[in-house]
Amino acid sequence: MEFPVKPGEAATQRTACAILPVFEDGQLRGATRAYDTASRGAIKKLIRGSDGAGRLGSTMMVHRTQGTAAERWLLVGCGKHAEFNATRLASAVGSAVQALRGSGVREAISYLAYELPHGLSARDAARLAVGAARGAIYRFEELKSKRDPATRLSRLGLARPDGSDVRETREGIRIGTAIANGTDLARDLGNRPPNVCTPSHIAATAKDVAKRLPNLKAQALTERDMERLGMGALLAVTRGAEEPARLIVLEYRGAGDSAPVAICGKGVTFDTGGISLKPPAKMDEMKFDMCGAAGVLGAMAAIAELELPVNAVAIIPACENMPSGRATRPGDVIKTMSGQTVEIINTDAEGRLILCDALTYARRYKPRYLLDVATLTGACVVALGHVYTGLFANDERLAAALLAAGERSLDRAWRMPIGDEYGETLKSNFADFANAGTRDGGASVAANFLSRFVDGTPWAHLDIAGVAWRANAQKGATGRPVPLLVDFLLNLDAA
Ligand code: BES
Ligand code: MN
Ligand code: ZN
Repeated sequence: MEFPVKPGEAATQRTACAILPVFEDGQLRGATRAYDTASRGAIKKLIRGSDGAGRLGSTMMVHRTQGTAAERWLLVGCGKHAEFNATRLASAVGSAVQALRGSGVREAISYLAYELPHGLSARDAARLAVGAARGAIYRFEELKSKRDPATRLSRLGLARPDGSDVRETREGIRIGTAIANGTDLARDLGNRPPNVCTPSHIAATAKDVAKRLPNLKAQALTERDMERLGMGALLAVTRGAEEPARLIVLEYRGAGDSAPVAICGKGVTFDTGGISLKPPAKMDEMKFDMCGAAGVLGAMAAIAELELPVNAVAIIPACENMPSGRATRPGDVIKTMSGQTVEIINTDAEGRLILCDALTYARRYKPRYLLDVATLTGACVVALGHVYTGLFANDERLAAALLAAGERSLDRAWRMPIGDEYGETLKSNFADFANAGTRDGGASVAANFLSRFVDGTPWAHLDIAGVAWRANAQKGATGRPVPLLVDFLLNLDAA
């Protein structure tokens, strides 16, 4: 989808569909008022005659657009004017695109941010509008024998009152497009079934990204390499699987020799729980257990597309967690790459095991910041639902930078504790510590486990178990936290 900037006077712009905001108080403002004036009060009449035209998320398509150069109007409810903000702008754009899908309209101009919401720049408004539009248009249909008649909408103009901020708007579109491309990549990987999206498939995707985009280098270590490196934790998880594991390393160099940001992404392409087998209900959703890996790859692709002046390295441990006669047992003790030994109490607590070796490997890069992204715990879903990512950090500046990035990109995170007390239940009589403790506070217990592998490095852990995919009728990967990660890297100078 293309997003041309459309500077100029509202009602005179030629388009198949003018997307106009209406607010709950019924008062017409900005572009909507201009269209209303040009049509001699037609919009006012329509709104008076309808219930709740301003209700957030409502849409009304109008074909009698006399007096204006638009063939149609799409009136989009934006809620209370005083409460119109970045979040609501994005949701209004999403509703508009949803309404246009399948309408046959090929081209439209959005006036939803013609008047910018309070405190939002033209650049950020454009970026969020592109993200919301692309999010609403995304479909995963590569495995359907008959595709949905694809949406016709291929151009969404972003209207500006005059030419003064065309450059900023273009810049926002460029950033929003790269983030959307990265998000789509993450969603596609997440949505692919576990018989397609294997560790080798993720490795091939990383190599493909590195070939397609500048300043990237990809490599994929094999199980032989892992043995040589002493990655006993990662190898313990993959033991029961026939499908070979990979440790994927994707380096992006945009800033010479400065210390990189290293980001580990959990890539369990299917989590059965192993010998501590999960119950059957919703087990299919454990194909999404590689969404950390997918999000990290999507973010790397986006920063390469933007050619950001940063250094970053993605480290992706990818494997399956399967039961078999060779699988790791509860009670087994393994040695991690760090040298610390772990008693495996529960083979379903596998994410922290593959991540601990990835974190140890990542420290070889002497990173400025060390991050990891994982669908790590059901407990995080209980704590934060499907709204916020759980953020755990041992560094205040890093935590603040990630929280701010989440706010700006509408991909929010909420800080959670790691404290020593959460480590109490990881005590083991047979190894340095155990891989699982109590379920109570389980997200913090898992973070506490990971914290034992970062030494003094400023580190943050993002538990995306609740936000990486949607269940039920809307089942599918969200691409989170690509927007958060890219925003963080965009603003790294300030961090
Ligand atoms: N991949 C799961 C976490 C998960 C579960 C994410 C449900 C989203 C929805 C992870 O590997 C896991 O199984 N965690 C266990 C840990 C426990 C055994 C200590 C959990 O959360 O139950
Ligand atoms: Mn598990
Ligand atoms: Zn898992």
